[in-house]
Amino acid sequence: MSRMHMIKVVGALVLVLAYICSNDQVEGSEGLSYGFYDKVCPQLEGIVRSGVQSMSLTDPTTPAALLRLMFHDCQGCDASILVDSESNNYKSEIRSSRNMGIRKREAVNLLKSVVEVQCPQRVSCADILILAAREAVFSSGGPRIDVPLGRRDSSNPTNSALADSSLPPSNVGVDDMLRLFEQKGLSLEESVAIIGAHTLGVTHCFNIESRLYDDPKSEHGRAFEMYLKLRCPQGSLTSNISVVLNEPTTLTFDNHYFINTINGRGVLTIDAEIPFDPRTVPFVQRFAADQDAFFQAFSSAFVKLSTSGVLTGSQGIIRRSCNALN
Ligand code: HEM
Repeated sequence: MSRMHMIKVVGALVLVLAYICSNDQVEGSEGLSYGFYDKVCPQLEGIVRSGVQSMSLTDPTTPAALLRLMFHDCQGCDASILVDSESNNYKSEIRSSRNMGIRKREAVNLLKSVVEVQCPQRVSCADILILAAREAVFSSGGPRIDVPLGRRDSSNPTNSALADSSLPPSNVGVDDMLRLFEQKGLSLEESVAIIGAHTLGVTHCFNIESRLYDDPKSEHGRAFEMYLKLRCPQGSLTSNISVVLNEPTTLTFDNHYFINTINGRGVLTIDAEIPFDPRTVPFVQRFAADQDAFFQAFSSAFVKLSTSGVLTGSQGIIRRSCNALN
């Protein structure tokens, strides 16, 4: 083989390799890839799957809690929400009022300790949290979402002011909701789909008090508002412990959330408004009629939300335990 021929062959091989590698990388989220832990911790996804399944058997509300935990950590998806307040002498992220009702942080800690035994110092808490959330969706009847991995954990303490300013208040309307998700790269369709996460779980009365008593503007769903008022009476001293179901099939990830909102049975302001806003209603109707369309748009929204602005490569750290900056 001539030297020139050899150079051409090697050049072609380099191009093919570069193409293969770039295909594994995720567009717009440098440093993340599918199969990131395939070599260093192939058992990771299995550990998280069986862990979430067994925790859900003991407490069937686990998937709802894990899914919300993902959203609230994904102001960077760097596991900062898992850091305990006690370990720092400042007001940490979890203490923001926007994180009221956040549960199951300890579930991610537990998964991390199992992973740490098998693959010490290899897997970030941030990735375990995302994997736990996607298992939460799947194990409760939702789509199987393929998520790119390679996130790193925050090494700096995040204080509650960040969560206060970046997470939406409980009475957010359509304008602010769309703006929030647009900043994270979600399309209009994906923004409506991701709110469909409210197919799972509960809402504390505390979080709908302003909707019911300070700003009751909706003519639609009056009967349902009366029901909510009965469940959450004004001035109740237990509004931070009493809850209403987000929708009747609250343990199952399905499209009933959209069917309910169309029927005027949305619990939060945003749930009540999306079936009436001209921008969002076409998607609400489509998802109510076609669960597969919801699952598809939800999956791509989940990937975008969980890859936006993350730490990768040499940024951040891989914590030893998720609740402390170590
Ligand atoms: C505009 C955006 C959103 C607002 C204003 C909002 C607000 C809320 C509020 C106030 C609650 C009730 C919390 C409680 O009282 O315990 C809640 C529950 C929940 N949210 Fe959202 N949310 C939004 C978007 C999302 C997204 C994007 C996800 C996930 C991808 C999500 C998942 C959940 C889940 C699963 C629950 C039930 C949690 C449980 O039962 O523990 N939410 N949301």
